[in-house]
Amino acid sequence: MKLEVEIAEIKFKNQIIAASGTFGYGEEYKELIDIEKIGGIVTKSITLKPTSGNPPPRICEVESGMLNSIGLQNEGLASFLREKLTFLKKINTNIIVSIAGVKEKEYIELARQLSREDGICAIELNLSCPNIKDKAGGSSQVLHFGQDEKILYSLVKKVKKESKLPIFVKLTPNVTDITLPAKAAERAGADALTLINTPLAMAVDIEEKIPKLKSVTGGLSGPAIKPIALRMVWQAAQVVNIPIIGVGGIASAEDAIEFMLCGATLIQIGTAVFLEPEVLTRVIEEIEKYLKKHNLNSPRDLIGGLIIK
Ligand SMILES: Cc1cc2nc3c(=O)[nH]c(=O)nc-3n(C[C@H](O)[C@H](O)[C@H](O)COP(=O)(O)O)c2cc1C
Repeated sequence: MKLEVEIAEIKFKNQIIAASGTFGYGEEYKELIDIEKIGGIVTKSITLKPTSGNPPPRICEVESGMLNSIGLQNEGLASFLREKLTFLKKINTNIIVSIAGVKEKEYIELARQLSREDGICAIELNLSCPNIKDKAGGSSQVLHFGQDEKILYSLVKKVKKESKLPIFVKLTPNVTDITLPAKAAERAGADALTLINTPLAMAVDIEEKIPKLKSVTGGLSGPAIKPIALRMVWQAAQVVNIPIIGVGGIASAEDAIEFMLCGATLIQIGTAVFLEPEVLTRVIEEIEKYLKKHNLNSPRDLIGGLIIK
């Protein structure tokens, strides 16, 4: 049974990838699962300089999922290259480095420096970050890079120019029409789209009458968002020709296959890993069983196969 798939000339041994922010930098999980069995790892998003993230509480459980407002907490590029990448390079799986910033030039510099390193197969742009430059004067409303097609197009185009590595563009679901950023990313030269990051949400403690997250709002993840993510993957697949990486509430082969039928070539698993680290390897085995049962030779036979009567 061949589970391999290829996108942007990168071979993945199977479709299952650990999602950004839920698998650390791989090392955290080395005792828990056989990391080399999975198709790849997306690192926690890194920024150019160390970033402390948002104040606690910044995680809470909600019905069918969780909220997080971790922010961009990370040790910055230099520490990543010195410490985390050294471990990641030794693992026989594809390493995708997620990058984030609040200014275009930060993304460009990150892409340029990462392109000089061995052992990285692609860069994923986390566009769910406030674009500080475009903050309207005095307004608390800051558009995220993924929420405005012009800002997104300009960023992806410039990053593509500076990077020797394939660029996966991770879109925010916090938009009215996902097809617009999807098309803008493709026009700008993105090699693949990752859909979705977390929808903005909140929860309230009625005894204290306060929000459960210090930063009031946060991103919702887990089973609660699967139908939204599926819908967005399907809509994006109708308008772009580049491969799509599906993510959002996936915890079983059935979930993953739903995403494949809607057009996803690769699958990322995030929140489910917190509950069950083996979910990553279990889903690979379950997909293999499904393919055998249905006499299919490759996961490719499922991608985009949704029948609409
Ligand atoms: C605690 C936590 C931290 C996350 N950090 C990042 C991050 O640094 N960069 C990013 O692009 N996405 C981040 N995400 C979003 C996930 O990669 C994923 O897109 C989202 O959670 C939906 O998938 P899931 O329902 O399988 O978790 C984070 C999610 C969680 C729950």
